[in-house]
Amino acid sequence: MRILGIETSCDDTAAAVVVDGSDVESNVLASQDEFHREYGGVVPEIASRKHAETIGAVIELALRKAKRDFKDLDAVAVTCGPGLSGSLVVGVAAAQAIAYARALPAYAVNHLHGHLFANYLATPGSAAHALPQTPFLCLIVSGGHTDMILVESAAKHVVIGRTLDDAAGEAYDKVARLLGLGFPGGPALDRLAQGGDGTAFAFPRSLMRDGSDNFSFSGLKTAVRYHLDAHPEHRSQRTADIAASFQAAVVDVLCAKALDAARRHHVDTVALAGGVSANSALRRELRLRGEAAGMRVLVPALEYCTDNAAMIAAAAYYRGEAARVEPERLFVDPNFAWS
Ligand code: KG4
Ligand code: ZN
Repeated sequence: MRILGIETSCDDTAAAVVVDGSDVESNVLASQDEFHREYGGVVPEIASRKHAETIGAVIELALRKAKRDFKDLDAVAVTCGPGLSGSLVVGVAAAQAIAYARALPAYAVNHLHGHLFANYLATPGSAAHALPQTPFLCLIVSGGHTDMILVESAAKHVVIGRTLDDAAGEAYDKVARLLGLGFPGGPALDRLAQGGDGTAFAFPRSLMRDGSDNFSFSGLKTAVRYHLDAHPEHRSQRTADIAASFQAAVVDVLCAKALDAARRHHVDTVALAGGVSANSALRRELRLRGEAAGMRVLVPALEYCTDNAAMIAAAAYYRGEAARVEPERLFVDPNFAWS
């Protein structure tokens, strides 16, 4: 089953062609970073306008790279939420137009399901592809979410924990702004931290040992701000050490809590998903600590961690009837709840 996936929930315009929820024939993404950079964050009106300008070309390119035509498609899948309404509506309108014009089945995909099912996509260039064995635990760490999910089967997911305040990616972006690293902040902080000492400053690790599956990152962000207020000279002299110490705290909490939850819920596989799973330290540490604890650790290929459309096509395939809607019933839901 060949599905065209479309994703426009935030500031990336993306389209992809994926066969049977796993084999990626093309995965195209037009980044809007350059248009939002001068504002230090995503400006919803600009995001919406740029999606409208770009979506047609991005879909055409996805088909061309896959060496396919509209007539080769079996279905179209689109992110319906959560996200920015003005952004979502562009992808949904495009998907609706294609579904009508080509009489194709349509799938309404929750963005978080997309991140989770990125773990079902074959890694580019790797010959063997084994699908994740359920049950497993999935830690979704993105700009808007930090959710711990018990994946009982491809159809049944239980959200067992989440952040009580900031998402992990949000903390990265806010601390990057405090350090003057610009936009987008997470990847810049990741790079800076690689040259710093993660043990230089002992930043707090909230809820690390509370035995729950919830997270909290706003105290950590505030601790970095207080530290910079108390030591203004560190803004210029110790930025790499601060970045590395902040990152060590985030990674420590995420790894400790995910592995603890896996043990308590009797699963032996932990998967990562979402933009922060592109973080070099998190990928490395979870693999190291997970394997030391006898767990299997799954980490999607980098291009499937941050927002992309291949994961949306994969989610549609695995969600099946649960995501299928008549094309005229495709919708935009900025707060689309999920489980
Ligand atoms: O999943 P995503 O692309 O969009 C949302 O659904 O939110 O995640 C974006 C988030 C941003 O907060 C960004 O700073 C963070 O992921 N991020 C990273 C890295 N790459 C992206 N955070 C830390 N290290 C990275 N390498
Ligand atoms: Zn995302």
